[in-house]
Parts: sequence; structure tokens; C-alpha cells
Amino acid sequence: MKLLVVGGGGREHAIIKKLKENPEVTEIFALPGNGGIKEDAICVNIGAKDIDGIVNFAKENKIDYVVVAPDDPLVLGLVDALEKIGIPCFGPEKKAAIIEGSKVFAKELMKKYGIPTARYETFSDMDAALSYLETAPIPTVIKADGLALGKGVIIAGTRDEAKDAVISMMKDKKFGDSGSRVVIEEFLEGPEVSVLSFTDGKTVVPMISSMDHKRALDGDMGLNTGGMGTIAPNPYYNEKTAKQCMEEIFIPTIKAMAKENRPFKGCLYFGLMLTKDGPKVIEYNCRFGDPEAQVVLPLLKTDLFSIMRAVTDERLDSINIQFSDNYAACVIMASNGYPASYQKGYEIQIPEETKQYVYVAGAKETDGKLLTDGGRVLGVTATGNTLKEAINLAYDRVCLIKFKDAFYRRDIGARALAANKTED
Ligand code: AMP
Ligand code: GLY
Repeated sequence: MKLLVVGGGGREHAIIKKLKENPEVTEIFALPGNGGIKEDAICVNIGAKDIDGIVNFAKENKIDYVVVAPDDPLVLGLVDALEKIGIPCFGPEKKAAIIEGSKVFAKELMKKYGIPTARYETFSDMDAALSYLETAPIPTVIKADGLALGKGVIIAGTRDEAKDAVISMMKDKKFGDSGSRVVIEEFLEGPEVSVLSFTDGKTVVPMISSMDHKRALDGDMGLNTGGMGTIAPNPYYNEKTAKQCMEEIFIPTIKAMAKENRPFKGCLYFGLMLTKDGPKVIEYNCRFGDPEAQVVLPLLKTDLFSIMRAVTDERLDSINIQFSDNYAACVIMASNGYPASYQKGYEIQIPEETKQYVYVAGAKETDGKLLTDGGRVLGVTATGNTLKEAINLAYDRVCLIKFKDAFYRRDIGARALAANKTED
């Protein structure tokens, strides 16, 4: 079977490596892929947002199945366009991808169906938002309604910061149209957990839980990034919490989307905060998380392509999905300076025997050399019988990879290890 994976980051590399385990899969194209993905798929330089370009490519190359990994093409309706020409896909249609595409939609859905989340107000008028902030509890959280490359959330510790955030989004249009509406919500506290799930619109199967590390620097300091590393499973997510999330959040969300005539098929990502009042939804994503996929997929024992097809065919209840009892860790190696400005074009050296554990994100191939080409350059993963073993092995592998200006956090998983100790 000929597959096409849309996207070109570490998450897509992890998906591709997993899809290759199925002997039925004979060829994988990646659009656009990257210099590292090239080792595992045929990369074609068509951007993930080029809906017409992707549809034409899929038609001309008689692609059997498409996996749409990033948020943008999903929100733009790539799955709808491919289904229209009869190509089956993994990923939600546009009307369901709105659960990530509009934070206002997501908040209203949760309110309507009683799904626990932070209290909030939405505004499309800047003066109304500013006057609300005169008396709103501080700290507060300001969110641009639409997609903003993961940067549309500002946690404001003072009233002035909150007002500046609103002005930058609504007046200065920092995120373009994405900020023409904003959500202002209650600041929640507690450990964060990412739970990705497979769902065919009727059945929902949570994957193993994970923990992202969003800040750039050790000790959760520095700027917010796309994610500097992950571990799985997340020690804060115990069986009792998992059961509560299933009953109060996962099933109600799937039912709510179906009821709204927006059945969600694909990977639904629940960003959760375990508050003292119980688990609450921080965000929904309509896709695999990056770098969550890089720790969750290596622990998946069941064949990924079979699961994806069961989702497409709406027979997820017929598959027994299993995860290993092991632990996984992923350390992101970035370009020094990320998420602000950084240099690129430096040669990357990865020993041959380490390549299978590396998911390449921001790199390109020029004259047979792999060069840095982005902020997050690659993710290095390991699995182990204990979390400590997985973390140590991931860092051992990091030490074998060389490029100028390489930067990475030294404390991925440290908080999880400390939490494990207190639970023992
Ligand atoms: P998001 O871009 O929606 O993933 O948000 C980025 C980060 O902002 C989350 O991972 C949380 O750490 C934080 N965040 C979002 N909403 C809230 C909230 N209501 N209270 C506290 N932190 C939040
Ligand atoms: N790691 C968070 C995300 O993919 O949005």
C-alpha cells in the first residue's frame, strides 16, 4: 500500500517509523518531510498547507491512504478534500478539527456539555475585554481564538500584562485573524498531563499518558516553546484519575461532538490539568502532540496502521490496543537561541546505530549532509524498564549527536522522577 504522511516534523518522523512496521505498507511519501525523514520516506516538497497541491499529488500518485498530522491542514479541510476524491484518511474533517481551530468553540462545547474546564469569558470587542480585566482575578490567562503556532496563550501575572496581551492580539493583530476573538480564563494550578486518544467518533481509546516540558530552560524557566522533551507514562496520572477523565472528559467530549454533528475521527489530544477540584481540560488538539508522539508511539505494541484504518472505517471497538509496560523519554535538541532567534545550516552528525532512536524535526539535506534548519532540530528517544533508565539512555544518546549550537534541557523527566518517589 502507498501511504502519504502530511507534515515534516519529529512527530511525523515518529508516525512514519511506526507505520513502516506494517508489512502491507510498501511505500511512504512525506509532504514535505525533512532531511532526516528522507531516510524513512520519499520526501516531496509540497507544503502541509497546500491543500490543492496535496490533493493533486495524492490523485496522480494513486495514494491508498493519507495520514494528516499537523493542525493547519486539518483545520483548513484537507481531510474533506481527500475524502471527496475517494482517498481514505486518518484525521478529523474540518467541522471536527474546529475543536482545536477555535478556542471559543472548544470552551462553548465544554460549557454546554458540562465538561470540566477553567471558567472563562469570550470577547470580540477589545474595549469590553479591557474593561473586564479591570476587575478580573489575577493571574489570568489570555488566549487567541484561532491557531497561533502554539504561541497564542499568555499567562498574565499583572493587570497591565493582561491588558498588553489583549491589545497585542486584538489591536496589533500579533496572530492575525486568530486574535480577533479572545478567551480570558481562570488561571488553574496543578500537574499537567497530555492524553492522546484514538477515536472513530463513537469509541474512544486513550493512549498511554505523557508529560511535556514546554519551557525552554531547566527548572521550567525561560520562554514557552513547542516542547523541549517528554516522558511517558505521566506519574501524576494514576488509575483513579484515568477513570475519572474517561467518565467526565473523554467520553462526554466524543458524545458532545457527535451530538453537534461533528463526529471526531482521528487522534484527539486532551491537555489536562489535575487541579485540587479534579481534572480539567486546558486545551484540545485535533492531532498527535509533538513531542508527545515521540514517547507514546514507541510504547504502542499494536500495529499503528491497523488502528488508523479501524478509526477510518469506524470499527475501533473491534481492535485491542495495547501499550508496553515500559517507560519512554524524548529529549529535544534545539538550536541555541530557540524559541527566539537562532542560526541554522550547521552539519549534524548522528552515529548510524543511534539513528533509529532519533526523530528529525528541523533539518535539511544538502549535498548529502544533514544540516540544522529549524529551532527544534531533533528528538532523541529511549525506552526502559524504569523511567530513570529511559531518561539516562536518552541522554547517553544525546551525547553521541553533534552539531554546532546544540542546546537541550538537562532535566527532562526530573519532575516525574521526583513525583514517582513521593508515590512510592
Ligand atoms: P496551550 O497553548 O493551550 O497548550 O497552552 C500553553 C500552556 O499554557 C499550557 O500547557 C499550560 O501550561 C498553560 N495554560 C493554558 N491555560 C491555562 C490555565 N487556564 N491556567 C493555567 N495555565 C494555563
Ligand atoms: N506538545 C504540545 C502540542 O503538540 O501542542
